[in-house]
Amino acid sequence: MTGGVLVESKLPLPLLRRGKVREVYEVDEGTLLLVASDRVSAFDVVMREAVPFKGAVLTQLSAFWFERLTSVMPHHLLTADADEIVARVPVLAPHRDELHGRAMLSRRATTVPFECVVRGYISGSAWAEYQKSGTLAGEPMPQGLVESAQLDPPIFSPATKAEQGHDENVTFDHVVNGLGRLTAERLRGASLALYEAGRDYAAQRGIIIADTKFEFGTTPEGELIVIDEILTPDSSRFWPADRYQPGHGQPSFDKQPLRDYLAGVRISSITINSPSGVVPNSNFARIAALPAQNWSEDRTRRVALHRDRLAPDAGRRFPVVAGGGCPGHPRGVGGGVLS
Ligand SMILES: Nc1ncnc2c1ncn2[C@@H]1O[C@H](COP(=O)(O)OP(=O)(O)O)[C@@H](O)[C@H]1O
Ligand SMILES: [Mg+2]
Repeated sequence: MTGGVLVESKLPLPLLRRGKVREVYEVDEGTLLLVASDRVSAFDVVMREAVPFKGAVLTQLSAFWFERLTSVMPHHLLTADADEIVARVPVLAPHRDELHGRAMLSRRATTVPFECVVRGYISGSAWAEYQKSGTLAGEPMPQGLVESAQLDPPIFSPATKAEQGHDENVTFDHVVNGLGRLTAERLRGASLALYEAGRDYAAQRGIIIADTKFEFGTTPEGELIVIDEILTPDSSRFWPADRYQPGHGQPSFDKQPLRDYLAGVRISSITINSPSGVVPNSNFARIAALPAQNWSEDRTRRVALHRDRLAPDAGRRFPVVAGGGCPGHPRGVGGGVLS
């Protein structure tokens, strides 16, 4: 780790998976360690540049929400405190500083093979589907919806979990066929309840949670729990409520400015999906020069906003600093359905 930036963790535990952002290690049969790096991805491609402390913000936001929403749904979090992690897994002692803030010890579960997306506003791939066919998650929708319109009540819009490439939206019946009606209904009920609780909490703090993606798993005892990350800017769209104006895309506190920038400079999918798979440094540097889409200049403020509005304790522990480039990183696999 240099200057607060962690591009990639390397821990003395069996590595099960290196995702676009996180590494998943096996601690023992029943326990995983998830480590969020500072990598940032968009359109399924990992950028060459990292965002200092992004991983700690992600992990602490997840920890905050898991604990806050525990009465809504049991979860996989055991601890996201580096000292407790080291106490439970002594082999990690030399890595304590690297793990500080960004590591989460979790109950290992058998994953449910669907992403459970909830949409309270129509955006991203849902807006694309609606424009094309007038449907959302395959179900007909009222005519005349505009981009970013509120969906009341929010809609459960599941997706497949793609190992390679992009996740695909599927109908609720598809989930019923795969898992049975009882489980499908439990997933839908839990997803809507988690989203609504998170949305109401954020709304009191001036943030719209437009949509989000949950993952669920089953423990060896057969308990259904929420796993992975929860209500983070990597799994959700966060919009400033005071600037909400339906009819077009919204300013946002998540990765949307980066996506807009990449689309704006017309980096074609051929370019970004090329074998090198990363956007050249120079492109990222130019973000700061774009007055309207001020991603680079603005990112410190954006990270700090998340921290202060949603998880003030995390803020005290992880001061946000500007700057910091990092060497290249190979592209990951699997695409986010909210992309
Ligand atoms: N408690 C858990 N038990 C089992 N698997 C988990 C648990 N929490 C998260 N996972 C899995 O960890 C993986 C994280 O990898 P991935 O999503 O590719 O990373 P990233 O989000 O960084 O791109 C996912 O496949 C997710 O289902
Ligand atoms: Mg993921």
